[in-house]
Amino acid sequence: MPGEDGYFDERVAARYDESSGEMFDPAVVEPVVDFLAALAGSGRALELGIGTGRIALPLSQRGVPVHGIELSKAMAGRLREKPGGEDIGVTIGDFATAAVEGTFSVAYLVFNTIMNLTTQAAQVACFRNIAAQLEPGGCFVIEVGVPSLRRLPPGETFHAFHVSETHWGIDEFDVARQGLISHHFELVDGSIERFSVPFRYVWPAELDLMAELAGMRLRERWSGWKREPFTSESTKHVSAWEKPA
Ligand SMILES: C[S@@+](CC[C@H](N)C(=O)[O-])C[C@H]1O[C@@H](n2cnc3c(N)ncnc32)[C@H](O)[C@@H]1O
Repeated sequence: MPGEDGYFDERVAARYDESSGEMFDPAVVEPVVDFLAALAGSGRALELGIGTGRIALPLSQRGVPVHGIELSKAMAGRLREKPGGEDIGVTIGDFATAAVEGTFSVAYLVFNTIMNLTTQAAQVACFRNIAAQLEPGGCFVIEVGVPSLRRLPPGETFHAFHVSETHWGIDEFDVARQGLISHHFELVDGSIERFSVPFRYVWPAELDLMAELAGMRLRERWSGWKREPFTSESTKHVSAWEKPA
């Protein structure tokens, strides 16, 4: 069982930026920041699961005031020690329930992190919690994979989603419960380290219903941050729901 930092404890936090290295590539980060800065306008941004500041730091450097909610003190500590980290307030807590002072013109939850809430009730609570903290006309943006069940033959429960010389990633599905455990095996200093995290995968249409329960409406859905079209072959989506003005 994880401790109070959840699955992103000190051991994971220490290696997060390196092991997620390709996600820190400016070619990946800049379109995210462009998208979010445009929605933020002259208002504030709230990042759920802010981590080590991969998106929050460059967004703040664009002039958008950013606040974060984060379960892991270890992850938040890494953000705080980076240049510009002191400009970003972090509330330690669960983004399904934690409230922050003031309101926001955009709230965002990237890199599949909605799936870290492992029950439907918690995911619905998250939408309600964020709707309450958005300004009228504000948006909640989620970036998450489309459940990859088309890759899972009948009777199978495992799917290898990443295979390289140093990292093997295997998803373990529990289809009846929309459960998923991502197992990572990484070569670190000559030995294999294991990191397994439970998720609840969630469908785009299901997220739309959660938004509606929270009083929000789908405003846009794309397959990427550069507003690429979302199609039957898309493997992920970027969706924004709007709180009525
Ligand atoms: C995959 S990392 C993403 C970090 C950052 N958003 C990024 O894009 O690099 C997920 C982060 O969400 C945090 N997290 C997971 N579940 C959470 C919850 N229920 N409440 C607050 N933070 C949570 C984890 O501790 C971790 O820092």
